[in-house]
Amino acid sequence: MAMSDDLRAIQAQVEQGVLGADTLDALDRIRVASLGKKGSLTAIMRSMGKVPPEERPAMGQLANTVRANVQAAIEQRKLQLAKAALDAKISAEAADVTLPGRRLAPGTQHLISQIREEIEDIFCGLGYTIEDGPFVETTYYNFTALNAPEDHPSRSAKDTFYVVDNAPEGKETHALGESDVLLRTQTSGVQVHVMETRKPPIYMVCPGTVFRPDTADANHLPQFTQVEGLVVDEGITFGDLKGTLDYFCREIFGRDRATRYRPHFFPFTEPSCEVDVSCGVCHGEGCRFCKNTGWLEILGCGMVDPNVLGYVGIDSERYSGFAFGIGVERVAALRYDLPDLRMLMTGDMRFLRQF
Ligand code: DAH
Repeated sequence: MAMSDDLRAIQAQVEQGVLGADTLDALDRIRVASLGKKGSLTAIMRSMGKVPPEERPAMGQLANTVRANVQAAIEQRKLQLAKAALDAKISAEAADVTLPGRRLAPGTQHLISQIREEIEDIFCGLGYTIEDGPFVETTYYNFTALNAPEDHPSRSAKDTFYVVDNAPEGKETHALGESDVLLRTQTSGVQVHVMETRKPPIYMVCPGTVFRPDTADANHLPQFTQVEGLVVDEGITFGDLKGTLDYFCREIFGRDRATRYRPHFFPFTEPSCEVDVSCGVCHGEGCRFCKNTGWLEILGCGMVDPNVLGYVGIDSERYSGFAFGIGVERVAALRYDLPDLRMLMTGDMRFLRQF
């Protein structure tokens, strides 16, 4: 058989063969059999020297054409196989458009924020302003200007987080616990800031975070939320305090709840009391939730001590006032019978979504 017939036969064979090659491996075997070192086409190319010189150019050209066609046929089949493999992979992984969509889980406002806003709304409705104050305070605002004596136990490092002095060792200006910078333990200091910058009449509430070195347990959190209240005006009496806080308690806990004012001591108010609301679980009968007293403590309050007005230069002969501090986590716990305050901090959506 003439060499040209051999060449055409090889091309036909390869073109036929690649169509039947279903895998890249099979295709590669065809490539090796024709174009490989011992392949049929390679053998013919090598024997080109035996072709009579006058036929060589034409034969050489034909051989090159055949080789190019063979390479092209293999390459084209390779692309086909790759595409088929990709198509198969895509359809195997394809989205099932009939499946229900995945829901985004939107969060809700945290219970504490909800109650804080509710308290703000109640006092806004009475014409109070909403104030803000710094978390990092000085002993002056947190204690001294609130009439707390120098040796008041709440000033100790056991009850207050003092801000660490960052000076190099040996150069500290204060021992830890004697620093005059601290994380506020109460929002009451905002009373002082507001009275320093504003003249009476003052009707304000200040919600905010406070900090105490308590280990978290069912009834304590090292970080919690208070709403401070302050009224300073002419002719303010204990009757105004009681009317205001009775109204607040009924708004937040419901009209059927009774209140009780128990004498207490706070350095910045005189007289001072703690306010209890009747237990919502037993309606005052006595149960486990209210420790059989029928009452639940919810806030501290009192008439502003004239000494506090003196610190900010407000004339206590002309003006009087009352103040109060509400524990927001406490309100949440009492309203929803929460057995453990830590539930408010863990971020468990099964709990938080209920509100
Ligand atoms: N600051 C007090 C506390 O953290 C709460 C309080 C009591 C605030 C009486 C007041 C007040 O304004 O008059 O326990």
